Parts: sequence; structure tokens; C-alpha cells
Amino acid sequence: MAKKRVRHHVNPMSDRTEISFKGFDNDNPIIVDVGAASGEFISKLIELKTETHNFIIFEIRKPLAKKLEEKFKNKNNVKVFTGDAGRNFESILASSVKKGIKIEEIFINFPDPWFKDRHKKRRFINESFLDNVSAWIQVETVWIFQTDQKELFQETLQLLDEKKISNIRFFDTSPYNTQTKWEAAKVELGDKIYRVKFNIDNIKI
Ligand SMILES: C[S@@+](CC[C@H](N)C(=O)[O-])C[C@H]1O[C@@H](n2cnc3c(N)ncnc32)[C@H](O)[C@@H]1O
Repeated sequence: MAKKRVRHHVNPMSDRTEISFKGFDNDNPIIVDVGAASGEFISKLIELKTETHNFIIFEIRKPLAKKLEEKFKNKNNVKVFTGDAGRNFESILASSVKKGIKIEEIFINFPDPWFKDRHKKRRFINESFLDNVSAWIQVETVWIFQTDQKELFQETLQLLDEKKISNIRFFDTSPYNTQTKWEAAKVELGDKIYRVKFNIDNIKI
């Protein structure tokens, strides 16, 4: 009998790797993809903006991250980081922010939802993450959050509301007219996609 493939959920909290990054050797703005998986979405952006932008890609699953590293190994404007994006966000991005480099866009595309109450703090956008990041991230940085999970979306909006993040824009179509791999699969199934952009302008801690 064929063995059933089981996809185990990665617990980001169990990966305690600490990584830091001094920044790129040019002043171009940075675009970030959190949880890129096999990287179809960010590849399109890299293709579109390679002359003008730098790219930071986070992926916690080592085999996927390894493939992304291989894919972009000849591009000095692309850095792939293997590990928990939440844990390493400040140590990777804050030095560029300090140098005045613009973090232009941060994509959080279809993150793992972590439904159980006790797991919610593992979500990338969680209360302590927002409190921490608001102390150093630029107000101009546009955060783009997309998900097919209604509950995750509603709870994330509620958190943004509690934190008094006011600059919230809902939108309907794929950024850069580019579906992510996960999005394409969900759209094919007829699922609804929930999308919001925001800036971290006024955090209430
Ligand atoms: C549902 S997939 C979506 C992948 C891709 N963004 C897309 O839309 O096709 C979520 C991805 O995020 C990665 N991931 C989850 N938590 C992460 C974390 N804390 N840091 C970095 N990557 C993470 C997972 O390994 C997985 O590849």
C-alpha cells in the first residue's frame, strides 16, 4: 500500500536560529517577502525591479530556502534568509533602516494561520511583533497582507484596530498582477482572497 504523505506543520518557535544582516552595498529600496515558499511571486518582482531594488526573502522551511538560495545565488541584490522571519526581522532589517534605506514593501502572502488560541502568538503579525517593529520601522513602509483564511484575516484586522493602526486599505486584485502559488491554487478552488495594506503609523502599546 502506498504511504500517505503527511505535511507536518513547522513550528517557527522551535527554530531559534539568530541571523543578522548589515545591509546591501547600495542605497536602493528594499522589498521583503515573508514565507516565500518556492518564490514564484518574489521572482516576478525581482524580474520587474532588479535594476532599482533589493530583495529580502524569508523562508523557514530549510529545503525550500535552499532552493531559493540556489535560484538567486548570482543576484547580489537578493538575500535569502532561512529561519523564523519574526525572530530575525529586526536584526536583518533595522541596520538598513538606520542607514536611511527605504523598506518599501513587506509582503506577508498566505502565512500559516495558526488557528489554535495557544498558537496565535506564532503568527507573523502578532501583538508583540507589532509593538517591537513599530519602534524602528519606517511609517512609509507598506505592509501587504493576503490570506484565504477569513478568521485569520478578521483577527489580524482586530489586532490592527486595537493597536490603532489607522491607515488600512483593502484591495481586490493581486499586487503587480501576480498571483502567488498558494493564491492561484485557492482561486482555482473558488476560494475568496482577503487582502489589506497598511502602514504602521500609530501603534498603541
Ligand atoms: C501557505 S505558504 C504560502 C507561500 C507563498 N507566500 C505563497 O503565497 O504561495 C506559507 C509559507 O510561509 C513559510 N513560513 C511560515 N512561517 C514562517 C516564518 N515564521 N518565517 C519564515 N517563513 C515562514 C512556510 O514555510 C511556507 O513556505
